[in-house]
Amino acid sequence: MITADVISRLHREAKTAQRRAYAPYSEFPVGVAIYTDAGKIVTGCNVENASFPLSVCAERNAIAACVAEGAGMPIACVVVGPVPQPLTPCGACRQVLAEFNREMLVICFSDNDDRADFYVKDLLPHAFSGEALDSSNNR
Ligand code: THU
Repeated sequence: MITADVISRLHREAKTAQRRAYAPYSEFPVGVAIYTDAGKIVTGCNVENASFPLSVCAERNAIAACVAEGAGMPIACVVVGPVPQPLTPCGACRQVLAEFNREMLVICFSDNDDRADFYVKDLLPHAFSGEALDSSNNR
């Protein structure tokens, strides 16, 4: 159970991370705060590159930090975008979130604090996963 208090902390931390985004090309800063089953908070922002495809979204940077810090399994992910509607993760990030927890709650915020909640399993139904690799007939 994630309390309203934790969610507002995650929202604050995601907004702080959003201010740190390196997004000179898109001018579209995104911030993320992940909450883990160990009670830790890990943040991420998008980091762009002059070679555009090398840019990495805030969600994937937050997941990478979560793994590197050994912070535990992500159970909630707050996303903040500079848009009037709650910002939902891109397809690539949905796949990366699904790798770690399909039951994860993704709480999406707009820049005026409008909110929309989803589970990863609903954002990416029928996700490809390691289970498919395990069941391969070609081994
Ligand atoms: N971006 C994210 O970081 N997260 C999202 O959920 C959507 C898009 C970034 C990628 C790129 O740096 C910029 O936003 C514009 O697409």
